[in-house]
Formats: sequence, structure tokens, C-alpha cells
Amino acid sequence: MQVVTDPLALQADCLARRRRGERIGFVPTMGYLHRGHTSLMELARPRCDHLVVSIYVNPLQFGAGEDLDRYPRDPEGDRAACERAGVDCLFMPTDLYPPGHSTRVRVEGLTAGLCGASRPTHFEGVTTVVARLFGLVQPDVAVFGEKDYQQLAVIRRMVRDLAMPIEILGGPLIRDDDGVALSSRNAYLDEDQRRRARSISRALAWLADAVAGGEVDVATLLARARARLDVDRIDYLEIVDPDELQPLARISGPARALAAAWLGRTRLIDNVALVPPSAHR
Ligand code: PAF
Repeated sequence: MQVVTDPLALQADCLARRRRGERIGFVPTMGYLHRGHTSLMELARPRCDHLVVSIYVNPLQFGAGEDLDRYPRDPEGDRAACERAGVDCLFMPTDLYPPGHSTRVRVEGLTAGLCGASRPTHFEGVTTVVARLFGLVQPDVAVFGEKDYQQLAVIRRMVRDLAMPIEILGGPLIRDDDGVALSSRNAYLDEDQRRRARSISRALAWLADAVAGGEVDVATLLARARARLDVDRIDYLEIVDPDELQPLARISGPARALAAAWLGRTRLIDNVALVPPSAHR
């Protein structure tokens, strides 16, 4: 496995490979890799000749007072995980942006609600870094986790709107044995918070069951699901249409429930597909 730290060296290598006809796959991450990340690498691996994984904790996507300084890091463990997953190139830049970097990429609309409402600069940071990474790697296919469902929708929109010739694949959300969605931020939780974090996936699973059982009234569903949450603060719990992420009043087709909640100083997100009985017919 190559390990590259220089952005322009990475770009030169990827461009040379493309000229030779190699198909490039890409999984961007912020490191502290877990099974959720390696499942994305497994999705990408058979779809490309050369698999690039990036690890970069992107300051642009953290707001003031967020966890940039304490974001968990494990470069050695990450390197070993990438080796095991059959990654060809691990890109670990210290400086990703050139001096004087002043370009921002912003997707409007889709970024207004949900995580965008409480983290107003977050998605601009994500799309800016992903656009730069795409420019460096020039992937044919890139894989993002459905755990960050809104992020995936925003990236798909950016790629469509900017006509980037990249196939975007969504990898299923991976849960731990207790149902908690895998996240690097789970490392922050103490034992009691971890126990209470289960209430998020349980409330979402309850919603999926209730919708599958025929309940269509969103206000009723959300009130009952909220009552199941044992968290310190609910950032949001919403049911939206799966593409435009607009809040729904009634469920008449496939929908998505998304939640963000705080346990102490840790903010966790999770989501689940909602499929009413009518969608099965
Ligand atoms: O999902 C993440 O880990 C990050 O938001 C990403 C896509 C690597 C951009 O920094």
C-alpha cells in the first residue's frame, strides 16, 4: 500500500493511472476507522483497479466550539485497517489546501434543514473538501456512508450540479451489536451515555415498524418516537422525503427518519428508511 502525504503527488499518480486506463475508486474519511468505513472500502474494492482512501480531519467542516481539537485519531490503527481492506493508496495529507485557498463550494436548499440548521457552516466545509479531494483523486467511483444521509444527498447534488463525472455510491449504515450506529464519535461516550445512546436506534427502529404497520401521521409518529429517546438533548427528529429531505406531514411512499441528539458533549446522528405497506404493493 502506498502512503502519500503530498496532494499534488497524489494527483500526478492518479492522473497517470487514469491515462493508463485504470479505474479509480475513492473512499474519503476523517480516520479513526471502524467497520462502517471498511464496509465502504469493501463496496469500492471490486468496482475499481486502484482504491484510494483519504484520512483528513477537515477543519472547514467544524464550527466554532465543536470537537475539531479532540476528534479521535489513530494513524497507525487506520493504516493497518486500510492494509487489511486491500487499499492501494492511503492519502494522509497534513496540509490539504494550498496557501491562500479561498474557494468554497456550497449546495443550497438541501443543506438548510436537519444538520444544516444546527451546524450552519458544516456542509459548505464538506462540499469544499470533497470537491478538492475529487480534483486530486479524479475518481471514477466514490463511496459515502448512508449513516451521514444528508451528507450523501448533498454530495450527490454537488456532483450532479457541477457535472463531475463520478459515480457516487451510498454504503449501508452499520450498527454495533447493541444497535448503536457506528461512528468515530462513539469513542467519546462513557458507559451510561453509551447505554442511553441505544435509545436513538431503538426509537428509529420503532418508527420503521410503526410505518410498516400502517401509521401515516407524522406528528403522531414523531411524538411517540420522541418519548422513547433517553438523551440529554434532541437536536432534531424528523421524517422527510428521501431525496429532497423536505419534512412530511403524512407518509404516502418511501420516507426517511433522521435524528441528531446530544449525550453530554457528544452529538450523535442516525437514520432509518421508512417503508409504508403501500410501497410494497
Ligand atoms: O464523512 C466524513 O467522514 C467527512 O465528512 C468527509 C466526507 C470525509 C469529508 O471530510
